[in-house]
Amino acid sequence: MTEAAPGARGATSVQVWDLPLRLWHWALAILVLVAWVTPSTYDRVHRVAGYSVIALLAFRLIWGFAGTRYARFGRLGVRLRAAPRYIWNLRRGITGRYIGLNPAGTVMLVALLFLLAISTITGAMEVTVTFFGVWWVEDTHAYASDAVMVLVGLHVLGVVVVGLLQRQNLVRAMFTGRKQLRNR
Ligand code: HEM
Ligand code: HEM
Repeated sequence: MTEAAPGARGATSVQVWDLPLRLWHWALAILVLVAWVTPSTYDRVHRVAGYSVIALLAFRLIWGFAGTRYARFGRLGVRLRAAPRYIWNLRRGITGRYIGLNPAGTVMLVALLFLLAISTITGAMEVTVTFFGVWWVEDTHAYASDAVMVLVGLHVLGVVVVGLLQRQNLVRAMFTGRKQLRNR
């Protein structure tokens, strides 16, 4: 539920990200970065990080139905359809009044979950007897993992840009769970 409290300078602080989602986010970020830097050098660590990402993906699917308001997938379709116009309007600095993920963030959520699934599934396939050394499995794993990292770069850029436009620290919000809503 939304929990509002008066804040400084005409802003209201609202509870957005629940604790499990915040823990999920930072665990995912750390594990994906660990998986990114460990292939060939620390294979065991790489595999453990990759399998842990599979577990986190499963959790996020469950949390999309069982989590609190802004973690749920209920309005995913509406926000995805709003994404092209939202991204177009960003050039004029318009970020709308979204409390949870904005439409561009929603596209990022879906794209990251999808590519992480491809990356981890093909990674897990690579270490099976049937698919060991199969070129398309290896290539798909490498390309999907590269694509994940490109998206992560865009994701961090998006978080910084939208945060600047909204004059608030969205990164801190992913730690505290609270965002500022300006009473314009
Ligand atoms: C491998 C690295 C990362 C991955 C895979 C990732 C993934 C995601 C995903 C999937 C979401 C959507 C949350 C949801 O489930 O509803 C999200 C949100 C968010 N992420 Fe990340 N993230 C990563 C790194 C980072 C980093 C380094 C930062 C900080 C600079 C960051 C800041 C945020 C913020 C602030 C949000 C909320 C956006 C908003 O307020 O609209 N993420 N991230
Ligand atoms: C988010 C998860 C993951 C990321 C980002 C990731 C990323 C990568 C990258 C960048 C490579 C190097 C590809 C190349 O240039 O040839 C690689 C290789 C590999 N990955 Fe993953 N991976 C992930 C998950 C997994 C999982 C779950 C497994 C299996 C348990 C796995 C098994 C492998 C294997 C066997 C290789 C070949 C590595 C080698 O040369 O020793 N990966 N991975």
